[in-house]
Amino acid sequence: MRVLLTGGAGYIGSHTALVLLDHGHEVVVLDDFSNSSREAVRRVEELSGSRVPVIEVDLADRERALAALADVEFDAAIHCAGLKAVGESVAQPSRYYRVNLDSTLTLLDVMRERGVSKLVFSSSATVYGDPAYVPQDEQHQVGVGLTNPYGWSKFMNEQIIRDAQAAWPELGAVLLRYFNPVGAHPSGRIGEDPSGIPNNLMPFIAQVAVGVRERLSVFGDTYPTPDGTGVRDYIHVMDLAEGHVAALERIEAGVVSYNLGSGTGSSVLDVVSAFEAASGRPIPYDVVPPRPGDVAEVVANPAKANTELDWRTTRSLADACRDTWAWQSANPSGYGA
Ligand code: UD1
Repeated sequence: MRVLLTGGAGYIGSHTALVLLDHGHEVVVLDDFSNSSREAVRRVEELSGSRVPVIEVDLADRERALAALADVEFDAAIHCAGLKAVGESVAQPSRYYRVNLDSTLTLLDVMRERGVSKLVFSSSATVYGDPAYVPQDEQHQVGVGLTNPYGWSKFMNEQIIRDAQAAWPELGAVLLRYFNPVGAHPSGRIGEDPSGIPNNLMPFIAQVAVGVRERLSVFGDTYPTPDGTGVRDYIHVMDLAEGHVAALERIEAGVVSYNLGSGTGSSVLDVVSAFEAASGRPIPYDVVPPRPGDVAEVVANPAKANTELDWRTTRSLADACRDTWAWQSANPSGYGA
């Protein structure tokens, strides 16, 4: 298939591009490079030996996006483009809603007009809000206890896609609810390159290990978890990327959601230890008060994706730390190095 990959220069998009190419698909990247780098696409081309056309446009800028896509042929879209910093979304709600919702609306209109009926959407376990139980399956309630515009925008996008499908029954859409993506391509050539101070745990730890930051702040150690620190389901980004390809290749008319997670929870201190082992560097840390909006434990039940997509994670937290370290140590300043 010829796949339009929005946000294809980003962390998840670039790894997904590579796996799509490895599976014999063609990829057209659409990105506005507001939080990503052309160098990522160049490295995907280098790793894959394939050419990857790039459309530079903000998908939320409807007129420009329609013009930029006018001559672009594609059979399916994977929609990863969007803003994703939780704290920033609280400070800039209208920007988050505008970008994250308008981009989806424009994409759906283009797809309908062209008769392109296959869509994979980057959603998030954040739609489950306050966990009613763990591990969470796809039947878990959604939209209860969401605490930030980023999370609401994922929830709203899921609803927008369901409504679009109700109005256009040929549309086949897969909502992929990511748990905590970590790791990098094992070559260390592509990886996560956050701008500014990383919000997320793994890139922060990686920057401590490489000496860009001094110490990790562990957000709380009195949660009801085995060591008191928050437990999450960390999924290797290559496993996540393979999940997109598995979903794409099985799309049928209708809307279906899948958890992409490993089913295994790891605490903040587990991640610290795993990273120390992988890097051979100490990760000094201080325990500080919990971060507002955080919960004790978020872990996927990935059984539905395992069965229906014939997909499962094959890489461990240790693999993710090793690959993150390969990326971070070879690219201490990310793509800007
Ligand atoms: C966060 C978002 C989630 C989003 C995801 C990916 C919140 C509440 N959730 O998930 O909506 O989809 O990122 O962008 O922000 N931690 C530390 N120190 C740090 C950073 C994190 O102790 O410097 C802890 C957190 O408290 C948590 C765990 O590490 O227990 C993972 O945090 P993080 O990587 O930010 O992911 P989530 O909070 O799970």
